[in-house]
Amino acid sequence: FDTTNREYYRPVYHHTPLYGWMNDANGLVYKDGEYHLYFQYNPYGSKWGNMHWGHSVSKDLIHWEHLAPAIARDTLGHIFSGSSVVDHNNSAGYGKDALIAFYTSASDEHGQIQCMAYSTDNGRTYTKYEGNPILTPFDGLKDFRDPKVFWYEPAQKWYMIVSADKNMRFYNSTDLKHWEYLSQFGEGYGVQPNQFECPDFIQLPVDGDKNHMKWVMIVNVNPGCPFGGSATEYFVGDFDGKEFKCDNDKSVSKWLDFGKDHYATVCFSNTGDRTIAVPWMSNWQYANATPTRQYRSANALPRELSLYTKDGEIYMAANAVKETQGLRKGTTELNNIDLKDEYTVNPITTGPEGACELEMDITPGKADTVGFALCNDKGEKVDIYLDMKAGRVVMDRTQSGITDLTPYGEMTVHDKETDDHRKTLSVNYVNDFALGTWAPLSLCNGKSYHLDIFVDKCSIEIFVDGGRIAMTNLVFPTAPYNALRFYTRGGEAQVENLKVHQLSL
Ligand code: FRU
Repeated sequence: FDTTNREYYRPVYHHTPLYGWMNDANGLVYKDGEYHLYFQYNPYGSKWGNMHWGHSVSKDLIHWEHLAPAIARDTLGHIFSGSSVVDHNNSAGYGKDALIAFYTSASDEHGQIQCMAYSTDNGRTYTKYEGNPILTPFDGLKDFRDPKVFWYEPAQKWYMIVSADKNMRFYNSTDLKHWEYLSQFGEGYGVQPNQFECPDFIQLPVDGDKNHMKWVMIVNVNPGCPFGGSATEYFVGDFDGKEFKCDNDKSVSKWLDFGKDHYATVCFSNTGDRTIAVPWMSNWQYANATPTRQYRSANALPRELSLYTKDGEIYMAANAVKETQGLRKGTTELNNIDLKDEYTVNPITTGPEGACELEMDITPGKADTVGFALCNDKGEKVDIYLDMKAGRVVMDRTQSGITDLTPYGEMTVHDKETDDHRKTLSVNYVNDFALGTWAPLSLCNGKSYHLDIFVDKCSIEIFVDGGRIAMTNLVFPTAPYNALRFYTRGGEAQVENLKVHQLSL
């Protein structure tokens, strides 16, 4: 294949497949200095279909090397999402430290069933277990997929969490091949209506205190995104080795990211004290219609997860991993701004093709609204501002560039009748793209807000106050953004410690 980049919107520093379609990150595992990123992959076209596990590896979570697909579609169907573990104790019998992958085989004939494959060459190639499937739904459930396997120390056993329609089901095992059902959790919890997909289950210290550990269930829901389509929510609670109990009422939804383009987010296994998640940076509403042809979809930046307390509630922060600092090829420090009405920085010095990271501290004072437009020479802009009356940070992409994706492919929507979330319709879905997303500022400590913003060829990721708020959105400007137009309404505001980092690989 000629894989020379022919795409205007290919990111400068985000992971993409060389060619073909990508969705969920799969089998995330760290072993012998390498981060393995497998992913839902169609090598035969740039729309969803023929699912394989594609494969890239990295030593630093930033520079990715593309490898051959690791697990190919077979007679049991598509290779859907799942996870990998390092088998430290040789539980499965393929040798100490073999990599064991768990995925869903999906077909009309066999339904959705869990399968296993192992690798003894550091994840380069996998052999499918001859006894597959290792797990089928005891009640014939249609939506039963995306197994996440983890080692549960107190029981000295492997555990699996699988999405089962509107629940997550727990199983455990000693040999990774025979699985015993334990319990399920989820029906009626969080945003409604929903469909659970791609679970993860992690234990983290609260406010860094290792004597206060909490379990978090990551649940990707489609539909369910507050702004339409797919998004990632999480539940905080306790686990006794059998059942998960959520701290909150059913009606509470907590979001890992407040943008529209953050989905199927799961974490690496075997990373010690660090918990690192990788999102797929798209939304099922229009993922098949983004304006590229050679390939489709990127991953958002890997994020480090942690728990913090705010007003007696525990929330999860998601911050860009510190390795992203390796992308900084230079930094321009700008003067502090006493913002009375408007102030423009034009141009800003970015890396190639507009790639940059913007850092600043905003103190709204008595302002009602304070923020900036990130603009280009074509009059396109993304508005990022604090709406102090509503208590929100907002990212508005209504005038960001291309917003009508209709010409680029058919749209995928959730068809309620058949429950197929990939039904394609050729209709104008401009409304799904041209909008603003917002997050509650009450998650932060107030007075002033630290904004860390990553701009790439077709995406903007905002991290407020170390990831207490994360917001990821695709944008398709027809020329790189290269100016900042600050504004305040209703009072004076301060913008301090303003930096523009030039980013490239
Ligand atoms: C989530 C998802 C998973 C499934 C995969 C198929 O985006 O629907 O539940 O395993 O995509 O590609």
